[in-house]
Amino acid sequence: MRAQVVIIGGGPSGLLLSQLLLRRGIDTVVLERKTRDYVLGRIRAGVLETGMVSLMRKAGIADRMDREGIIHESTVLSFDDQEFSINFTEHTGTHVMIYGQTEVTRDLYDAREAAGGRIIYNVENVVINDADTDKPFVTFDVGGATQQIDCDFVAGCDGFHGVSRRTIPHGVRREYEKVYPFGWLGILSETPPVNDELIYANSARGFALCSMRNANLSRYYVQCQLEDTPDDWSDQRFWDELRSRIPEKYADTLITGPSIEKSIAPLRSFVTEPMRWGRLFLCGDAAHIVPPTGAKGLNTAASDVHYLYHGLMQYYEEADPEGIDRYSERALARVWKAERFSWWMTTLLHRFPDQTAFDLKIQRADLEFLRANREAQSVLAQNYVGLPY
Ligand code: FAD
Ligand code: DHB
Repeated sequence: MRAQVVIIGGGPSGLLLSQLLLRRGIDTVVLERKTRDYVLGRIRAGVLETGMVSLMRKAGIADRMDREGIIHESTVLSFDDQEFSINFTEHTGTHVMIYGQTEVTRDLYDAREAAGGRIIYNVENVVINDADTDKPFVTFDVGGATQQIDCDFVAGCDGFHGVSRRTIPHGVRREYEKVYPFGWLGILSETPPVNDELIYANSARGFALCSMRNANLSRYYVQCQLEDTPDDWSDQRFWDELRSRIPEKYADTLITGPSIEKSIAPLRSFVTEPMRWGRLFLCGDAAHIVPPTGAKGLNTAASDVHYLYHGLMQYYEEADPEGIDRYSERALARVWKAERFSWWMTTLLHRFPDQTAFDLKIQRADLEFLRANREAQSVLAQNYVGLPY
């Protein structure tokens, strides 16, 4: 088998890249370790930046998002019983879109399948060969047989635990990491959201986030212990904890119901450099992870896709390698700013086990400065709606 670009991983990065390239007549094969249903069963991000929304439109998969997505022009931050709202539109002229990663992925799968794009599911033992030569190839097992695809380029879109990053030799790869001493417990419930803006809450009992997917589907998170498992958290315990962490006016009006999904995610900041080795390009979570505070994970994956798509287009349409040669540098420049913002939002809003009285005073001063200062709010708004590509 042959393809111009082999894409490893059928998550949002791989699917979006494949769809954009397909529209320019660049031929790809997507290799996914799981099934479509498994990928669609993962509940993850919910907030799309302006740049991601534009890429979805460019990929021709934005119709449902434009119909069903909810535009958010502001967000609420709270600490103890105080709250303030930051208006994105006022500071940046733009907004974010509430539309779940599950829906983005579903739209991408549907578009890819409708266009007859090749996706091979249930692949095992993917190996990227000769990425540092002009003739890379990928081997994998599917249905008990080993297959090989020869290609021009490999896009490693296989997430944090994939094979792509590990294909780059140790001597070339530099990794930067910060692990946080807590996790997020998230639930999905078929109840109306407590507020029409998201609420990011810093409280004495830890962080909480009130988010949503639609008018009758809420997504809520609370900071939890790393050792906790979903079984430690009955629905009742979750709702009681959430109520104790958000301002009273929301706690009093919160509508609760049975959870339809409950999961725990650890928090980590991670970047690998460079994001290119020979003819292999890393994209999305394969190259970097952010803690979820500020909703940058999926959106930063999308900006990588933008740079790689443009680089590959320039290569195939103009025979100019400039875009792929500068891919790693361009992507990383934006990645590090998303890393900074996510780290800052996490530090601002969580309770850390080793936080001293001094640290708490500084955190509070940071929040009070943000509440009172237009420029500080503008900085948050610019980062939240997404820095330009
Ligand atoms: P992934 O979505 O990880 O996709 C990679 C794909 O590659 C997967 O389908 C995987 O099955 C496949 N794969 C892996 N290894 C192989 C292999 N060897 N061969 C073939 N295929 C392979 N971001 C937010 O902004 N907000 C959130 O609330 C949020 N919550 C999250 C919760 C969790 C539990 C996790 C893990 C992430 C969360 N994120 C969140 C981050 C966001 O979901 C990711 O940034 C986004 O999914 C990145 O997309 P991706 O396509 O790069 O990687
Ligand atoms: C969601 C997740 C986030 O990490 C965030 O900052 C905002 C919203 C969500 O899942 O809805």
